[in-house]
Amino acid sequence: MSAPNIDTIVSLSKRRGFVFPSSEIYGGLGSSWDYGPLGVELANNVKQAWWRWLVYERDDIEGIDTSIILNRLVWKYSEHEATFNDPLVDCKECKSRFRADKLQEEYELTHPAEGLVVYASIVPFNKDKIKCPNCGKSDWTNPRPFNMMLKTQLGATAAEEDEYDEGTVYLGGRAYLRPETAQGIFINFLNVQTTTRRKLPFGVAQVGKSFRNEVTPGNFILRTREFEQMEMEYFVRPDAEHFKLVDYWVGQYVDWYTRLGVARENLYLYEVPKEKLAHYSRRTVDIMYRYFPERPEEARQWEELMGIAYRTDFDLKQHSNKPVDAEGKRLNPDSTEDLSYFDETAKERFYPHVIEPASGVNRSALAFLMDAYTEKTNDKGEKRVILKLHPELAPIKVAVLPLAKNKPEIAAMAKDIKKQLQPAMRAVYDDTGGIGKLYARQDEIGTPFCVTVDHQSLEDEAVTVRNRDTWEQQRIKTTELGEHLKQKLKVSFSV
Ligand code: GAP
Repeated sequence: MSAPNIDTIVSLSKRRGFVFPSSEIYGGLGSSWDYGPLGVELANNVKQAWWRWLVYERDDIEGIDTSIILNRLVWKYSEHEATFNDPLVDCKECKSRFRADKLQEEYELTHPAEGLVVYASIVPFNKDKIKCPNCGKSDWTNPRPFNMMLKTQLGATAAEEDEYDEGTVYLGGRAYLRPETAQGIFINFLNVQTTTRRKLPFGVAQVGKSFRNEVTPGNFILRTREFEQMEMEYFVRPDAEHFKLVDYWVGQYVDWYTRLGVARENLYLYEVPKEKLAHYSRRTVDIMYRYFPERPEEARQWEELMGIAYRTDFDLKQHSNKPVDAEGKRLNPDSTEDLSYFDETAKERFYPHVIEPASGVNRSALAFLMDAYTEKTNDKGEKRVILKLHPELAPIKVAVLPLAKNKPEIAAMAKDIKKQLQPAMRAVYDDTGGIGKLYARQDEIGTPFCVTVDHQSLEDEAVTVRNRDTWEQQRIKTTELGEHLKQKLKVSFSV
């Protein structure tokens, strides 16, 4: 079982403290979300699981953490300034604004028989037939490009100049919030390679915030203007089998997601058609997740969870000062470096090619939450929600609960057990309700084990360990509790 729709997760998230609408006391800010006490733990666990898997458990990947605001020239030569656009259309009737490509996609899915692709200015857009989702009319402007990079101004002059419009503003302080973490990796390629003495093939991984001025954000944490990415650039020789490497990384990520709890049937591989590839990509496979199981047509149930792209040597070349055009003119006169690589064995210099698995923390967290969602009926016929999160992702690993909180010896023993477990695993103490309510609360937030201290515990130095998924209970000596839980959780705890 998984969540029947995203709304179920939205209400669970708000009720239990995973994710809250941002700036709510001021009426909110469209599609911005704050991660609460449990949400921040889940997101951190997703990032740590990913980092452990790639940077620690493999031998061919380094980590890095680069600035969010980079020199504007990075975005000129990566071609984001010129091409990182969404096609925007306005409904002339009700003034609503949409992405033309998304409206077209939806139209093609719902009118498969027509097989009709009509170009309107820059993209395919059946302008006369597509109806405005807001008012139902078909009275559109032509699609026009809208650059998605979020602009900012650097330096003390910014405040005064912000008053003016772009025609009069001095743009010397113009900068962007990065729309992908990848570029920070490319511009540091030589720094990482020389300091770590790496030989190809090797990868560089980065986790961090990215920003995009999305035209139509929405669907909870699926599409927001501020989000977190987990990207890895895998550098290989120009003669490597690039397409096979894309397949290899697709396989690796499908395994990673399924190992951490996503059902294989909720993942689907989408080979991005040539005409839809990003400007830097020669091949991209998107791993799609079934975020919309409630939609009757299967084709409309999917949205991108992550993508694996073959970026060729595009980025390293673009940022290098050596490449020249047909007339011998340097393509990048601003860079001070040549980001090429010398292969000692082959005695060759070249620009490495790149395979890039790019995933999102927020979309991953949402997929894990949706897949973990289950409902179960107890002996009294009451419906209970159980969040069957993988132990590695569960925000809290164990809750220690006193059966009688009014009995000071029991509460003290429970608090002491929590303290002893804490260095090895995230543990909480809770005495704010009857035991049934406390169990239900922990089930709903995905805590794999509850430890109950009762009257008998004071005599026999043993406690009851309850399993979230089976509701089975086992009596365990307190001296063996830590080891028992570690074994059951099968998590490599980094204390
Ligand atoms: N460097 C390549 C790149 O950024 P992308 O497909 O545009 O590729 C990678 O983004 C991943 O980042 C997406 O698959 C998704 O998980 C996440 N992502 C992108 N835009 C997002 C948004 N507006 N909100 C939430 N996550 C987003």
